[in-house]
Amino acid sequence: MSLSIERVRTGNLVPRVHEQVRALCDAAYGENLAGYFADIGPGVHLLGWHGPALVSHLMWVDRTLYVEGREPLRSAYVELVATRKSDQGRRFATRLMERLALEIQGYDIGALSPAETTLYQRLGWERWHGALSVRTAAGDEIRVAGGVRPGSLHDAAADGGDVVRRQGTARSRAPDAA
Ligand SMILES: CC(C)(COP(=O)(O)OP(=O)(O)OC[C@H]1O[C@@H](n2cnc3c(N)ncnc32)[C@H](O)[C@@H]1OP(=O)(O)O)[C@@H](O)C(=O)NCCC(=O)NCCS
Repeated sequence: MSLSIERVRTGNLVPRVHEQVRALCDAAYGENLAGYFADIGPGVHLLGWHGPALVSHLMWVDRTLYVEGREPLRSAYVELVATRKSDQGRRFATRLMERLALEIQGYDIGALSPAETTLYQRLGWERWHGALSVRTAAGDEIRVAGGVRPGSLHDAAADGGDVVRRQGTARSRAPDAA
């Protein structure tokens, strides 16, 4: 089965395709993601088409990552990796992730926060071995995964640590990543 990959900015998604993206993600994640889509805002989508059917999706948004003592990193933060249930296991998400790696080379770093890391680690993504926080709109920092020790993949998975991919630039060297 051949997959054709289309790259589209959120603002350029025609309503019918936007609806297909929403339906695909809702079905794959088993929940209504309307609020989540609104929270993450616009980005760039990779759409995996098989004929007229949207079978796989991911998107990335620009997000700044702060590492203590370093310049902020401009990250391509990957969201909503999803494949239609009936097409899972056919390497469609792998194809989109491979394309993503080419698309985001201009960023300091790529990052994502997966429930399950096998897919990403197989493609060379590495676990962030450090404390993780999110900054709220009010500027507060909320710890989301704390005290993850280098090498403790199991603990990190339990804590939901992000997986990051270092890009080729000097600035992207992350001291806490193994
Ligand atoms: C995860 C998901 C996108 C993979 O799509 P896919 O097209 O089937 O992926 P591929 O065929 O390229 O790769 C399959 C690999 O995905 C991984 N995988 C399976 N379920 C997964 C999950 N819920 N989260 C992350 N990775 C998963 C497995 O390592 C699997 O490898 P295996 O076939 O050797 O066991 C798809 O299962 C899905 O949409 N799941 C529901 C939504 C979700 O959990 N998204 C990811 C959140 S991090």
